[in-house]
Amino acid sequence: MLLRLALSLLPFVGSALSQTGGPYTDPDNGITFWGYTDPVHQVTYGYVFPPLAAAGGTQPNEFIGEIVAPIATKWAGVSPGGSMLQNLLLVAWPNGNSIVRSARIATDYVQPTAMSGPVLTDLPSTKVNSTHWKWVYRCVNCVSWSTPGGTRSIPIDGSGVAAWAWSSVAVDSPSNPQSTFLEHNDFGFFGLDWSTAHVSQAAYDIWKNGGTGGPTTTTTTTTTTTTQPPVTATPYDYIVVGSGAGGLVVADRLSETGKKVLLLERGGPSTWETGGRYGPTWANGHNLTKFDVPGLFESMFNDGNPFWWCKDINVFAGCLTGGGTSINGALYFLPPYSDFAPTTGWPVSWGNHAPYTAKLKARLPSTDAPSTDGKRYLEQTFDVAATLLKGQGYRQITINDNPDSKDHVFGYSAYNFVGGKRTGPVATYLRTAKARKNFTFKNYVYVLNVVRKGAQITGVKTNDTSLGPDGVIPLTPKGRVVLSAGSFGSPRILFRSGIGPTDMINIVKNDAAAGPNLPPQAEWINLPVGYNVSDNPSINLVFTHPSVDAYDNWAPIWTNPRPADSAQYLKSSAGVFAQASPRLNFWRAYSGSDGKTRWLQGTVRPGAASVTTSYPYNASNIFTITAYLSTGITSRGRIGIDAAMTARALVAPWFTDPIDKAVLIQGLNDIVSNIKSVPGLTLITPDNTTTIANYVNNYDPGSLNSNHWVGSNTIGRVVDENTKVFNTNNLFVVDASIIPQMPMSNPHATIMSAAEQGVARILALPGGP
Ligand SMILES: Cc1cc2nc3c(=O)[nH]c(=O)nc-3n(C[C@H](O)[C@H](O)[C@H](O)COP(=O)(O)OP(=O)(O)OC[C@H]3O[C@@H](n4cnc5c(N)ncnc54)[C@H](O)[C@@H]3O)c2cc1C
Ligand SMILES: *[C@@H]1O[C@H](CO)[C@@H](O)[C@H](O)[C@H]1NC(C)=O
Ligand SMILES: *[C@@H]1O[C@H](CO)[C@@H](O)[C@H](O)[C@H]1NC(C)=O
Ligand SMILES: *[C@@H]1O[C@H](CO)[C@@H](O)[C@H](O)[C@H]1NC(C)=O
Ligand SMILES: *[C@@H]1O[C@H](CO)[C@@H](O)[C@H](O)[C@H]1NC(C)=O
Ligand SMILES: *[C@@H]1O[C@H](CO)[C@@H](O)[C@H](O)[C@H]1NC(C)=O
Ligand SMILES: *[C@@H]1O[C@H](CO)[C@@H](O)[C@H](O)[C@H]1NC(C)=O
Ligand SMILES: *[C@@H]1O[C@H](CO)[C@@H](O)[C@H](O)[C@H]1NC(C)=O
Repeated sequence: MLLRLALSLLPFVGSALSQTGGPYTDPDNGITFWGYTDPVHQVTYGYVFPPLAAAGGTQPNEFIGEIVAPIATKWAGVSPGGSMLQNLLLVAWPNGNSIVRSARIATDYVQPTAMSGPVLTDLPSTKVNSTHWKWVYRCVNCVSWSTPGGTRSIPIDGSGVAAWAWSSVAVDSPSNPQSTFLEHNDFGFFGLDWSTAHVSQAAYDIWKNGGTGGPTTTTTTTTTTTTQPPVTATPYDYIVVGSGAGGLVVADRLSETGKKVLLLERGGPSTWETGGRYGPTWANGHNLTKFDVPGLFESMFNDGNPFWWCKDINVFAGCLTGGGTSINGALYFLPPYSDFAPTTGWPVSWGNHAPYTAKLKARLPSTDAPSTDGKRYLEQTFDVAATLLKGQGYRQITINDNPDSKDHVFGYSAYNFVGGKRTGPVATYLRTAKARKNFTFKNYVYVLNVVRKGAQITGVKTNDTSLGPDGVIPLTPKGRVVLSAGSFGSPRILFRSGIGPTDMINIVKNDAAAGPNLPPQAEWINLPVGYNVSDNPSINLVFTHPSVDAYDNWAPIWTNPRPADSAQYLKSSAGVFAQASPRLNFWRAYSGSDGKTRWLQGTVRPGAASVTTSYPYNASNIFTITAYLSTGITSRGRIGIDAAMTARALVAPWFTDPIDKAVLIQGLNDIVSNIKSVPGLTLITPDNTTTIANYVNNYDPGSLNSNHWVGSNTIGRVVDENTKVFNTNNLFVVDASIIPQMPMSNPHATIMSAAEQGVARILALPGGP
C-alpha cells in the first residue's frame, strides 16, 4: 500500500524555531553528540561530525548519529536536512532484540522509499533493553546527497534545523528494513548550530570504528561575555502581533488614526513588494516570487525548502508577512448574514456586518476572472461539474454578488487577485500602513508573551534583545496589545502569559525558558482558551473525465511549466498562472437528523492530492471535488500546546458528532448521484469497489483538515464583545480565533470583515491611547 500518508496534516517541513539542541555525552558509549531530547516522547536524537575541512580541503561525507527511544516508540526517523522532501531520511525500529533501519528519500508527501548512496553501519552501543531501544550508527555519503532536484546537503558549517518523526504504530513488517509504515503520528524540529558539532579526527576515528570514550571534543566553545550597551526601548500606543488576515487590517486601521503602531511578525518577507525574493527561475528578472504568482499555489505543497510554514504548529500555517493570506488559495467569499448571526454564536451587537464587509470590499475587491485579459482558462472542470450540479437542481450565480445565496448554487471561484497577482491584505492594508510615519513593521520578531501586572499589560516580550531590555517592548501608559497570531499562535501567547486553562499554563510553568516569564500563580487568568475549536471536515472525491486537462497535476509549475503559459503570464499577467487551482465552488443546505441545518461547500479543481483505485485510469484527466461541511457543524475540538511548546490540536475537531459525518456522507452521495448522466465522468477515488460511507469511515483523520481553524478564543468566552480578553484591561485578540463557529466558506474574507469590525470597536472603546 503506497499512498497511505495524509497530505493535509503538515508533513514535516523545516526551518527556524525556539527549540534548540546542544552537546551531550552519551554515558553508554562516551560519544559526544550534538542533539536534542524531545520533551513529549523523550526521544534523543544526536549527531557528530568529523572536523570541518580547511578551506579548499575535502569534507568527509559522513557523520555518526544516534536515536535513543523509550520502548513505546514503534518507529522513529530523522531528517538532518530539516524537511521531508528530497532529504536524507533515516528510519529505525526495534525487532526483537535488534534494530532494523534504512535510509529513505521522498519526492512527495507519500511513503519514503529506499535511498541509494548512504552506507549505514551500526555501532556496538546499539541495543534494545526492557525500557528503551537505541540505534547508534555511522552514516557515510550522508552530508550531501543527490536528488532529482539537484545536490542537497546538511549545512555543517552553519546553523540549521533538524527534523524528527515519531510513531506509536509499528511498521508493517518489522524484519524488513524497507517495510512500509503508516504516517508518523508526530514530528518536530530543533535548531542546531551544526558548525559546532564537530570533533577531532582522532576522536571521530575511534568512535566510527566502534570505540568508546577517548579524546573528547576539541571544539571548545568560548563564551565571550561582552558587555552590551544598555538597550532602550521605544514605547508604542498599539502593538499588534501577527501580520495575517486579522493583524494587517487591525494595524492599518489603528495607524490611520495617527497612533504609534508597531506590527510584529515572526516570519520573513513574502511577495516581492515586501522584500521576498524566492521565485521560480522561469520568472527571473520579473520581480515575481512564489507568493506573487497565483498559479504557483499548488507548489506550496511539494517544495523541498518550505521555509514559510510555522515549524512549531503541527498543521499548515503561514509564518511570513501576510500569514495565511500569502500562502493560501486566496479563495475569497464575502460573508453571508449567518457568518455573524447570533445563531452562530456572535454577540447580538455584531449582527450587522454589512458596513464592515463594505469597507473590506472597498479595499480588496473580488474577481472570478482573475486573468488580466478577462478570459477564463483551464475551465473543463467547471463545465463538467456544472453539468453534474445542474442535474441536482443547482443554479449558477456570481458568488460574491449574492453572498446570502448558499443553497443549491454554484459559480466561478472568487479570488482577491488584482492585476493577475496575489494581492490580499499585504498589497492593500499593509501598503497603506507602511506609508505612515507612525507605523513600524518588523519581520523576524517572535513574541513570546505579554508582560503584565495583573490585569494591566505593560508590553510584549520578544526574542529580540535589540528591541528592548530582555527583548521587552513597552506600551505607552494607556497603550494596548492586539494579538492576531492566528488560531494556534494567539492561544500559545496567552498560555505563555498566564491566561488560559490551568493545565496549559502548568506546561508553560514546567518549561525552563518560558516558565520564568509567567506572572505569579495568583495572577493567572482562567479562561477556556483553546476549547470549542472547529475546522471544516473535508473529503476529496477524485474523478476522471476525457475533456479534463489535469494540468499535469501541477507538478512542473515551479521548475518546468508549459512554456506558452509561463510566457503568457510573464508578458501580461494573464492565463493559467493568473489564478490558483480551484475553478468552481458550490453550496447546499442540509437538514440533519437532529433538526439542525448544516451547509456543504464544494471546491472543484484539476488534479488530485492522491488517487486510490484498483483500476487503470488516465492521469491526464483527473480532477477533485472537495466537499467541506461548514456553518452548522456541531463537532468541536481543542487546541493546546505540548511540552515542546508546539501548538497542536489536543482533540481533533472533525466528526466528534456522528451527525456531522452522516450529513457529509449524504452530501457526497448526492454529488455523485447523477454521475451516469454525464457521459465519460468516472469516480476513481473511491472507485466502485468502495462505498462512499466506507470511504469516509476509513478516511485518514488528519486528511480531514481544511486549514480553516476558528474558535480557540471564542468571542463571548475568551474575549468580550469588544474583543478584549476577559479580566484584562488592555489586551485584545482579533483573528480567526475569536470566530465562534465555522463560517459558510473558506474563511479569510470573514476574518477580515471581523477585523474591520473588531478594530472599530477597539478604537471606540474609552481608556485607550
Ligand atoms: C494551505 C492553506 C490554504 C488556505 N486557503 C484558503 C483560501 O483559499 N481561502 C480562505 O479564505 N482561506 C484559506 N485558508 C485559511 C486562511 O488563510 C486563514 O484562515 C487565515 O489566514 C487566518 O488568519 P489569521 O489572521 O487568524 O492568522 P494568520 O493568517 O495565520 O496570521 C497569523 C500571523 O501571525 C504570525 N505569528 C504567529 N505567532 C506569532 C508570534 N508569537 N510572534 C509574532 N508573529 C506571530 C504568523 O507568522 C502569521 O503571519 C488557507 C489556509 C492554509 C494554511
Ligand atoms: C535501557 O537503555 C537506556 C538507554 O541507554 C537506559 O537509559 C536505560 O536505563 C536502560 N534500561 C534498563 C532497564 O537498563
Ligand atoms: C505621530 O505621533 C506623534 C506622537 O504621538 C503625534 O504627535 C503625531 O501627530 C503623529 N503623526 C501623525 C502623522 O499622525
Ligand atoms: C524589479 O525591482 C527592482 C528594484 O527592486 C527595480 O529596480 C526593477 O526595475 C524591477 N524590475 C521589474 C521588471 O519590475
Ligand atoms: C526570533 O525568532 C524568529 C522566528 O523564529 C527568528 O527568525 C529570529 O531570527 C529570532 N531572532 C533572534 C534575535 O533570535
Ligand atoms: C463550548 O461551547 C458549548 C456550546 O456553545 C458551551 O456549552 C460550552 O460551555 C463551551 N465550552 C467552553 C469550555 O467554553
Ligand atoms: C489520456 O488523456 C489525454 C488527454 O485527454 C489523451 O491525450 C490521451 O490519449 C489519453 N490516454 C489514453 C491512454 O486514453
Ligand atoms: C467498476 O469500474 C471498473 C473501471 O471503471 C469497470 O471496469 C467495472 O465494470 C465496474 N464494475 C461495476 C460493478 O460497475
